[in-house]
Amino acid sequence: MKVDVLLGLQWGDEGKGKIVDVLTPSYDIIARFQGGPNAGHTLEFEGIKHVLHTIPSGIFHKDVINLVGNGVVIDPVVFSAELDKLKPFNIDFKTRLLLSKKAHLILPTHKLLDAASEQAKGKNKIGSTLKGIGPTYMDKTGRNGLRVGDIHSPNFKEKYEALVEKHEGILKHHDDFTYDLPSLEKPWFEAIEVLKQLTAVDSEHYLNAALQSGKKVLAEGAQGTMLDIDFGTYPFVTSSNTVTAGTCTGLGIAPTKIGSVIGIFKAYCTRVGSGPFPTELDDEVGELIRQEGREFGATTGRPRRCGWLDLVQLRYAIMINGVTELAMMKSDVLGVFEHIEVCTHYLVDGQKVTDFPFDVTDLHIEPIYEKLEGWNCDLTALESFDAAPKALKDYVTYLEQQLNIPIRVISVGPDRKQTLQN
Ligand code: GDP
Ligand code: IMO
Ligand code: MG
Repeated sequence: MKVDVLLGLQWGDEGKGKIVDVLTPSYDIIARFQGGPNAGHTLEFEGIKHVLHTIPSGIFHKDVINLVGNGVVIDPVVFSAELDKLKPFNIDFKTRLLLSKKAHLILPTHKLLDAASEQAKGKNKIGSTLKGIGPTYMDKTGRNGLRVGDIHSPNFKEKYEALVEKHEGILKHHDDFTYDLPSLEKPWFEAIEVLKQLTAVDSEHYLNAALQSGKKVLAEGAQGTMLDIDFGTYPFVTSSNTVTAGTCTGLGIAPTKIGSVIGIFKAYCTRVGSGPFPTELDDEVGELIRQEGREFGATTGRPRRCGWLDLVQLRYAIMINGVTELAMMKSDVLGVFEHIEVCTHYLVDGQKVTDFPFDVTDLHIEPIYEKLEGWNCDLTALESFDAAPKALKDYVTYLEQQLNIPIRVISVGPDRKQTLQN
């Protein structure tokens, strides 16, 4: 068997959590391959709304294994709080939730370093979620990190203290940054005890054996392609590879074992945090999208910046990920517009640009739009794509032609049921 991959094609928050939940009945294992508690994946069903940060979005389906891969960074405190919030659902975590021994741990001082670094950057700040993501991945690549597999080791505390000493050495250089470490350490060590109760596995062996025995695996991405450390709008990115290739390194899956790549995009665009966003609408249209789409971050509550769909950006993301099928989210949100605009290319110094440029931060980009008919109606009660208004069908056909990839799913609301197949 091969691993199917589901990931975001824009700047995150495309609706990955919802679609993973919808697709989970067709899989045996759902595996997160990167990111950490900077992610907020929202699921809605039977009147329940649930936001997951580290736990994969297949957790509500019985008989499915959810695995946190080696590419993920785990904050034990956030993780333990997530488990607490799931208590009413009577999930057998011991058997249904597996942690890779190679996943790295976010220490309290990683969060402090994140905050100190952002504070020092002033107006150039990344807009990080301040969950300690960047400093944890820095320690991973710097070969200093602590991993899930270390927590049972007799000298875990010593390893922890050695790393904290290093971090405090760095924090000393941030003159105006104050902190109270003991108050953060107590809950952290309590949460480590919770992690010890869970099942840690050699996840690369586990997954490859599962594939060998015919099990179906879906890899769940976090963030989005434009936040990828290599291909995103650097330096305004996260610190992991959010793209398909991240599945290989974040789960131990060979490139030859990647199956379908499901790319998720919103029918428009959003971004939370700082950094370039060519089609951003800093006007009443952007505000209307934010209100209609309830575009406020699932992790931080910050308002998301909104704009029209950007085909230059989307084609780039499709190319990098090798997307085989698309899911278009939040189509209902555009129901308030008589006309919809789509950016087909950019003008830079009067020249037409169709390849996403190297440096979008300092470049003056003029997005060129094509104006399309809006459906201008409420889609949220729609039960099949056949019954969709003509303007929505035309929008889907137009995008399929522009992107050369089939749009298999059209989402018309946050609930599981508000999902149409094409
Ligand atoms: P993720 O990080 O990619 O999982 O996405 P988030 O959960 O951060 O953000 C997506 C938001 O849009 C959540 O509040 C979802 O409940 C909501 N959502 C998902 N699909 C739809 C949709 O088709 N229509 C509407 N109106 N909301 C949606
Ligand atoms: P999901 O999985 C949207 C953004 C932050 C910031 C930048 C770096 O829910 O789609 P970090 O905390 O990683 O140092 O932040 O990346 N960011 C996200 N934006 N959705 C996310 O995850 C994000 N995770 C990080 O806002 O601009
Ligand atoms: Mg999110």
